[in-house]
Amino acid sequence: MSKPLILALSKGRILKETLPLLADAGIVPAEDLDKSRKLLFDTNLPDVKFVVIRATDVPTYVQLGAADIGVAGKDVLMEHGAKGLYEPLDLNISRCRLMTAGIMGGAPRHARRRVATKFVNIARRYYASQGIQAEVIKLYGAMELAPLMNLADEIVDIVDTGNTLRANGMEPRELITEISTRLVVNKASMTMQHERITPLVERLREAVNKRRSET
Ligand code: ATP
Ligand code: PRP
Repeated sequence: MSKPLILALSKGRILKETLPLLADAGIVPAEDLDKSRKLLFDTNLPDVKFVVIRATDVPTYVQLGAADIGVAGKDVLMEHGAKGLYEPLDLNISRCRLMTAGIMGGAPRHARRRVATKFVNIARRYYASQGIQAEVIKLYGAMELAPLMNLADEIVDIVDTGNTLRANGMEPRELITEISTRLVVNKASMTMQHERITPLVERLREAVNKRRSET
């Protein structure tokens, strides 16, 4: 039998929303992902396997061809660069916004604006595009704490309901971009495995459209 198609899935929030979509497209894991310590899973389709990995690793797996197809947030793809990946489908799940935010009513305290974020590449590009000199500080979580502790003037982070910002006395400022989860495909796989990948993408597209028409 030929080499199986590998789908790299982002674990966490995105995985929970991806599995029902995949099921609608006729692909289900052979065992309960939550009950296993495994990272590589068989599916009901003999030629399709899942790997379940950190969202930030998905573009790397797909770009280097260790996975043929990936599921990742647009934020993660933009931050990574995701050069040379096809992005054939917006899965329309885990929707949120990438925004700048700061202390309610606050103004920058540092001459060169200090920005804390885990999205350093996106932040650098964004502030440069606005003609604003910014010192971008890499954090790995709890970005909302940085302005409160005078570590930064602003943050670049994901905003959904705005509850996390409000709970920390902060306000959203500028919208950088709308975010949703995307399907990405390795370029060589798209060429070499076209007859296997295209029907899968189309089944997922139908599942996404069906949901859109129901909401
Ligand atoms: P990791 O565990 O790798 O650090 P994480 O904790 O950021 O990742 P999740 O919180 O599961 O992972 O979020 C993964 C993706 O879900 C984000 O990259 C983004 O695309 C989307 N996302 C994050 N927060 C929200 C939110 N509050 N509402 C909707 N989508 C979100
Ligand atoms: C995400 C994000 C924000 C929050 C925004 O965090 O980093 O902190 O959601 O959502 P809201 O506008 O609805 O409050 P998440 O809940 O994923 O926790 P994390 O810190 O583990 O990323």
